[in-house]
Amino acid sequence: MKKLLAVVATVTALLVLFQVVGAQVPPVSRGGQLYDEWWKVTGAEAPTSSHPVWATQSTNTRTGEDTWRCKECHGWDYLGAEGAYGSGSH
Ligand code: HEC
Repeated sequence: MKKLLAVVATVTALLVLFQVVGAQVPPVSRGGQLYDEWWKVTGAEAPTSSHPVWATQSTNTRTGEDTWRCKECHGWDYLGAEGAYGSGSH
């Protein structure tokens, strides 16, 4: 009986620990997901038209929902046209 209680207590402690640790990790990856296709994270409907600001540039030929992804304008390095997305298809 004592052994069973010890096992239950250990498992409970581990579950609590995993929940605490687990709760601290997701916000980082969640931020990355929000910076990308945020509507998939929030459950919002995907945008169908292009972002209004999109018309001010002509180098990136994407249309529709892609134009609303934060990373598509700001780049993953957040340097915009001066970063990695300053050349190439973005
Ligand atoms: C269609 C292109 C586009 C998309 C998509 C976009 N932004 Fe921006 N964002 C801009 C432009 C242009 C500015 C103004 C930059 C300036 O005036 O220097 C700006 C400004 C900002 C700023 C103000 C600080 C700064 O760097 O100038 C933040 C913060 C920002 N955007 C975050 C986001 C986030 C978060 C998302 C996604 C939810 C997003 N942006 C999506 C184009 C975009």
